[in-house]
Amino acid sequence: MNFKNKVVLITGASSGIGRETAIEFAKLGSNIILVARKIDKLEQVANELKKFNVTTFVCQCDVSKKEQVKEMSKIVLEKFDSIDILINNAGFAIYGSVSSLSIDDIESQMETNYFGMVYCIKNFLPSMLTKKSGHIVNIASVAASFGLPGIASYCASKFAMLGFSEGLKHELKNTGIGITVVSPIMVRTNFFDHSSFEKMPKYSPISLDAKTVAKAILKAANSSRLEIVVPSVVRGAIWMKSTFPFFINPILGKSFKKQLDCTKQN
Ligand SMILES: NC(=O)c1ccc[n+]([C@@H]2O[C@H](COP(=O)([O-])OP(=O)(O)OC[C@H]3O[C@@H](n4cnc5c(N)ncnc54)[C@H](OP(=O)(O)O)[C@@H]3O)[C@@H](O)[C@H]2O)c1
Repeated sequence: MNFKNKVVLITGASSGIGRETAIEFAKLGSNIILVARKIDKLEQVANELKKFNVTTFVCQCDVSKKEQVKEMSKIVLEKFDSIDILINNAGFAIYGSVSSLSIDDIESQMETNYFGMVYCIKNFLPSMLTKKSGHIVNIASVAASFGLPGIASYCASKFAMLGFSEGLKHELKNTGIGITVVSPIMVRTNFFDHSSFEKMPKYSPISLDAKTVAKAILKAANSSRLEIVVPSVVRGAIWMKSTFPFFINPILGKSFKKQLDCTKQN
């Protein structure tokens, strides 16, 4: 697909993967709608995009609030008629065991990571269906395939995102609209600045930079695949897990549980 003059809406565009994705699409001449809660940070990104001579539009919106998403989509659709690419990227995690997290902590991750995506799709899909074109890219994680100690509720939100996307992909067959999930391993962004990660070692040596993930998102926006795992070699581990769960689950579980126990002791 030629991305020039396409309208791309990115949630969570004020930082990390979302910001890098905005830059990569702007380089190709796409018009960018930047969505997040922190307006000052969104405006900084919009300023960075000026050099690419594309239209940028900043929208302050908390995607976990369905009324705010409805209002944001109304404003966007009044200005642009329809969007070509919807990137559901806003998300966060709270680290901790299920017994130590509050119900509010668990709900809040589901509200942003899963329902935030649902609200955006529900508000933008009708105009895509009318136009018979468009692509939805949902940013999940390898945590959509592995239930891990310390991030069980985050994993649940990403499993839910992957399941929803798979079901919706079948429903969208022959409509002209595509949907692809991008599932990266650890990425060096502000994601780990949340206070719950304080006692965790900062970034594993195999972590990715946000630009690598942004490039995978561009690929996803023009892909017929359900899921793109970044890096692709990790797909082997997902296959191993689903084929030999009795072998791989205890190994992964033990190593993540050890880390969880360490953070409790410190
Ligand atoms: N970093 C990783 O290791 C990693 C790995 C796999 C998948 N991911 C996924 O990648 C996505 C992007 O994360 P990142 O690593 O780029 O982290 P990040 O740098 O912390 O960026 C997260 C973005 O989401 C926005 N956001 C959070 N809650 C929001 C809400 N309720 N409404 C609107 N925007 C919201 C934040 O902006 P405001 O605070 O301004 O709202 C920010 O722009 C997330 O979905 C995350 O789950 C990350």
